[in-house]
This record gives sequence, C-alpha cells and structure tokens, in this order.
Amino acid sequence: MKKIFLSVTAMMLLFSCQNDTTEMAPETSAVLKRGCASSDVLAAQIKADPSLALAMNKIENFTNNAMTSGRLVNGKVQIPVVVNVLYRTASENISLAQIQSQIDVLNRDFNAQNTDFSSVPTLFSTVKANVGISFVLQNVVRRATTVQSWTTNDAMKRSATGITPTTPSTVLNMWACNLGGGILGYAQFPGGASSTDGVVMDNNAFGSTGSVSAPFNLGRTATHEVGHWMNLRHIWGDANCGSDFVSDTPTHNEANYGVPAYPSLSLCTGNPVEMTMNYMDYTDDRGMYMFSNGQKSRMAALFVSGGARANFGI
Ligand code: ARG
Ligand code: ZN
Ligand code: CA
Repeated sequence: MKKIFLSVTAMMLLFSCQNDTTEMAPETSAVLKRGCASSDVLAAQIKADPSLALAMNKIENFTNNAMTSGRLVNGKVQIPVVVNVLYRTASENISLAQIQSQIDVLNRDFNAQNTDFSSVPTLFSTVKANVGISFVLQNVVRRATTVQSWTTNDAMKRSATGITPTTPSTVLNMWACNLGGGILGYAQFPGGASSTDGVVMDNNAFGSTGSVSAPFNLGRTATHEVGHWMNLRHIWGDANCGSDFVSDTPTHNEANYGVPAYPSLSLCTGNPVEMTMNYMDYTDDRGMYMFSNGQKSRMAALFVSGGARANFGI
C-alpha cells in the first residue's frame, strides 16, 4: 500500500518535470532560468535505484511521527558548510566575500532575520517561521577546470572532474560552478547517496555580492535549495494543485514567477490566497521571504535522533 503510494508520488514528480520542460520551451531565457532541477534529479535517481523511493518513504513516515508525537527538541541546529568552487575563468573563482555573503543570507533567512520578513502579509503572520537553524563556513575548496558549463549529472562532485564532498554525514557541501541550461541550482533530498549529498549552485546565483546577477542576486537560490536538502518540496507540489506535505501552506496551481501582486488567488479547492512569498515557490529573489511553521517541522524532524540528518546534532 505504502509502496504504491510512493511510486505514485515518484511518477507525479516525473510527469511534472516533463510537463515543466515542455511548458518552458517557448519561454524567455529569464524564465528558463528556473528548471525543476531538484525534482528532475530526484526522479532520475529513483529511476536508477528504486530502493531510494523506499528509503525516502521511510523518511516520510519518520517525519510524520516526529511531527505528531511532539518529540521535537526545541534546540539549535548548527550546520557546518564546505563550499566547493569549480572555476574556468577568474570571475568563476568567486571571492571569499561572495561565499560569506551566501552564508550570511542563509543565517538571516533561516532565523527570521531577513529585513523583508516584516513584509509577510498579516494573513500569514501566525504561520511565518523562525526556523532556528544556523550555518557556519568551515572551509572553501577550489579547483580549476576546463569545463565550460556543468549539468545536473553530478560530475562536479566526482574526483575525476570535480571535487568530492567533505564528510557529507556531518557537513553541508555546496558546489559553486557554471551551471548550463538556465539552471540556478539543484539539491539532493535526504535519503540519497552520501557521495552526491549537498547543494549545487550556479556561481551567478551564489550569494548577494560579486558575480551575482539580478533578479537572482539576493542569495535566495541557496535558501530554496537548502530547503530541498532539508526535505521541503515545492509549494505547488510539482503538480497542478499538488501537495507539498505541509498543512499550513496553501495549495497552489503551479509555480509563480517574477514578483506576483498580493493577493494572488489559487484556483484550487477553496480558492486560498497563495503564499507566493514562500522560499519554496519560484518567484524572483526579492519576492520570497518566508518559511512556514509546517515547513519548519519537516526540517526539524531530520535532525532529531533517528532522523535522516541526525548526525548534524541538535
Ligand atoms: N531552479 C531552482 C530549483 O528548482 C530554484 C530556483 C530558485 N529561485 C530563486 N528565486 N532564486 O531547485
Ligand atoms: Zn526547487
Ligand atoms: Ca500545503
């Protein structure tokens, strides 16, 4: 029964990504910058290794138990981060200041310290979350490359062509490189292989200074990708009126782009006001500035004893 449910979920992810690709073909390059990369990679990984679906189903069950049994410890999680930089040109070899700016954005966004947190509409004031997870830059690893642009095939994580992750069981690895195909970033969800665990970022969407380019210049790509790395799904559930497995986020028809005017009404059941300012939507960086309490619970469930990222401690 559970197996059936899971494979249906996996199929939905597959289909939604295929739909995304066909829908995206006629769009402008600015819009093309937003592939459904993390979901795409997940679908491909499940196809190659169906046991990943089972592992992820276990995580899903654990998450639900941890969320309903009140066993969540209200402690602090601190995540050590190693940034792996692959560069062909001098500007791709992003500065330490640019790297630190990304860590700073993560710390603000995950601790309700972002200046735009106060712009969250009153309607969502009871669900906007201080996630309470912080990030510490532990090391930067740099490697020169002749590769002009990278894809979502994880080549940047392999020793032959890229940089292997530093102790991924206790460190969040980020790769900064020139991603092709208009991809801003992609993440691996909990449950995947440790050799590919972490978040990949396009160097022009990394941090909030240096080589970043608008409208993805506020470091929110990493906030979104680290959300995936902490088990968050897209707010529209990668399907029309799909589910993100979070009850305090409204149902959205599909991804939102740009900076939507408020309120944006969903056409899904009940016509809820969409939470377009959520980090797990697809708006421009300046259009996203909150996680919800339900999303916080999903993330926190990973770090309790027995959780998929419990080695990071509480
Ligand atoms: N393309 C990325 C993904 O699907 C997310 C885009 C991030 N959005 C942003 N405004 N920076 O994982
Ligand atoms: Zn995403
Ligand atoms: Ca929801």
